Amino acid sequence: MKTKILEILRQAEKGAFISGQELCGQLGVSRTAVWKSVKQLKDAGYKIEAIQNKGYCLLSTPDILSKSEIESQLQTKWVGRPVCYFDEIDSTNTEAKRIAEGMAGAQGHGTVVVAEEQNAGRGRRGRDWDSPRGDGIFFTILLKPDMDPSNAPMLTLVKALATAKGITKYTGLESAIKWPNDVVVNGKKVVGILTEMSAQVDYINHIVVGTGINVHQKGFPEEIAAKATSLDIELKQLGKQKKIYRAALLASVLEEFEACYEAFMQAQDLSFLMEEYNSLLVNCGKEVRVLDPLGEFGGKALGINERGELLVGCKGEITRVSSGEVSVRGIYGYV
Ligand code: BTN
Repeated sequence: MKTKILEILRQAEKGAFISGQELCGQLGVSRTAVWKSVKQLKDAGYKIEAIQNKGYCLLSTPDILSKSEIESQLQTKWVGRPVCYFDEIDSTNTEAKRIAEGMAGAQGHGTVVVAEEQNAGRGRRGRDWDSPRGDGIFFTILLKPDMDPSNAPMLTLVKALATAKGITKYTGLESAIKWPNDVVVNGKKVVGILTEMSAQVDYINHIVVGTGINVHQKGFPEEIAAKATSLDIELKQLGKQKKIYRAALLASVLEEFEACYEAFMQAQDLSFLMEEYNSLLVNCGKEVRVLDPLGEFGGKALGINERGELLVGCKGEITRVSSGEVSVRGIYGYV
């Protein structure tokens, strides 16, 4: 009911009041029930003016990631239907896997697990992902795609593209992608993505795509300060005043993901997304070092192919680099 009340109050023109009677009619509940939900919203930090004989007016929204705040902003068909919110959790990826294991078949596909804080957030290559309360967005999309397991690594690139687009659309910042799946702003990382899969030889049980977005951090520990940034830091650097509401940003990213995922599933590869991905690829046309455990080499990054492999040109030959154990660095640093 809180989701619906927020939706209705947001649809109203700025400063306009929606009568209690109208809310009761649209929701099919009593005035007392509406009043109780409005009180809960106020307790959660919403400023809602209530005037007798006039009704309710939403004056301001807190920067929270609650289920009703996210769902009331979301314009998707199936992604984030439902949103599972946790004030604190070990890791949203781990929780998404627990949910997947408790559901049969395609059930749960599109579920989004989100948390204000993770106490055991995980990054790639066994690293930790620092997940302080209120600073970032930590969320995981649970997917149960009907496709060959060998296609799964491409989903990470789909997620990176969707996240970069969602960030740019909502913040106006120019975000780019460092192959395969870091989203960067101004040459520094703002987003990390961790994709995990449970599969049989020819059948996917589920895939969880976890994303951490640095939003309100004011600084980073010395070891990563040269390559990590937050959206607030970058907005400030450009002298922009925009205040980021994390639920609205998350909705923007999830909406982009739904569209990109559908294009990916239609082609069963990145054919429809490759051009846009390459246009955002920060390494494109640049000299890179490919850190392959089987042997390091250098060359010019030429963009990805429809399988998401990075094409690297070197001495007249083109090598296809797959993600996984390989990572790519700029010759002068992170990008
Ligand atoms: C990376 O190392 O770049 C990937 C970081 C992925 C972090 C996100 S935060 C939400 C989800 N839950 C986790 O435990 N990890 C991912």
